[in-house]
Amino acid sequence: MAAAVAISSTVKYGIIGVGMMGREHLINLHHLRTEGVAVVAIADPHVPSQDLALQLAQSFNWPLKVFSGHRELLESGLCDVLVVSTPNMTHYEILMDIINHPKPHHVLVEKPLCTTVAHCKEVVNAARKRQDILVQVGLEYRYMPPVAKLIEIVKGGNLGQVKMVAIREHRFPFLVKVNNWNRFNVNSGGTLVEKCCHFFDLMRLFAGANPVRVMASGAIDVNHKDEIYDGKVPDIIDNAYVIVEFDNGSRGMLDLCMFAEGSKNEQEISVVGDTGKGEAFVPESIVRFGTREKGRDGVHTLKAEDDRIKYDGLHHGSSYLEHLNFLSAVRAKGGQAPAVGLQDGLISVAIGVAAQLSIEKGRFVPIAEVMD
Ligand SMILES: NC(=O)c1ccc[n+]([C@@H]2O[C@H](COP(=O)([O-])OP(=O)(O)OC[C@H]3O[C@@H](n4cnc5c(N)ncnc54)[C@H](O)[C@@H]3O)[C@@H](O)[C@H]2O)c1
Repeated sequence: MAAAVAISSTVKYGIIGVGMMGREHLINLHHLRTEGVAVVAIADPHVPSQDLALQLAQSFNWPLKVFSGHRELLESGLCDVLVVSTPNMTHYEILMDIINHPKPHHVLVEKPLCTTVAHCKEVVNAARKRQDILVQVGLEYRYMPPVAKLIEIVKGGNLGQVKMVAIREHRFPFLVKVNNWNRFNVNSGGTLVEKCCHFFDLMRLFAGANPVRVMASGAIDVNHKDEIYDGKVPDIIDNAYVIVEFDNGSRGMLDLCMFAEGSKNEQEISVVGDTGKGEAFVPESIVRFGTREKGRDGVHTLKAEDDRIKYDGLHHGSSYLEHLNFLSAVRAKGGQAPAVGLQDGLISVAIGVAAQLSIEKGRFVPIAEVMD
């Protein structure tokens, strides 16, 4: 790989889509200003989103060029790096335009990479022909301090061979988004793609393996039933159980509930190997691990922290670390691959698509079925 974007001493960023997450990226990049970054342009057709981003940029003393679409931003030639934080169903077209543009731009694209496996594969194939650009996928849960600590414990061999990965997310319902794009599967890819790609990515990482088949049960049982948009009631599920089998024999299980505001933690992760067990709790930021040999009395409990984080933001500092990591890959000029690549983005979407299909069909769905 040879990243050939000519980077001046200040790395110039553009943000495409400045809704909730785009503005979160803007604030994170401001906290990285001492690392030599500046946001110089934004693209968003929604004037209220533009205005909110402009207000933030003014408070940071960052003059911003504002465009109503990504193509004008690309043509401006102002940016070295682009952050794509638009609704999920727009990622494909925007990514293809960036990748096919004559001027190279490195890209950090929000999860999910795209809403369908076919679109993800097209992006992966197009990017393969552009060795001069880096594409990182925003699967940022890897960077949350308790999750990162648990990854370190697992990869350090402390639990032996991983056999079971259980992830419970119990949280509040989906937030209201610009033009309510997240209320329909056709826009978001479905709940198990839209948000759970984070957890399928983590399962794969903990298991150190690729998925073989997926079984899921889920429904829309509590949330959004009294909402109507253009005459249509939302179709996004609000709870599910998903089982994922991996090619090394390990198993993953997701327990998702989006009407669980009464939960102490939002995410609880349990990884059990043949010699030990580790757990991570978010947002308590607690990690526990122990061995079968030493039993309950030998369980270690620690508070996970990362001194590098200068801004916690909406995701416990993970967006900050994600940017720090991507900036390092950009500055390495091809000497370092993005930490979360396109293949990770593709497979996390494929597991979500298989899970959605499993609910629809009421059977196990082989990953090969959705990948072909
Ligand atoms: N990392 C995370 O955990 C996390 C959290 C929230 C959202 N996200 C992701 O971030 C992305 C954006 O979500 P959000 O919560 O900010 O949504 P949002 O609705 O708050 O903002 C989306 C913005 O994109 C703009 N937009 C729509 N089409 C556009 C286009 N073609 N070009 C440019 N701008 C366009 C909208 O006008 C809006 O301002 C989604 O992919 C979502 O899945 C990730």
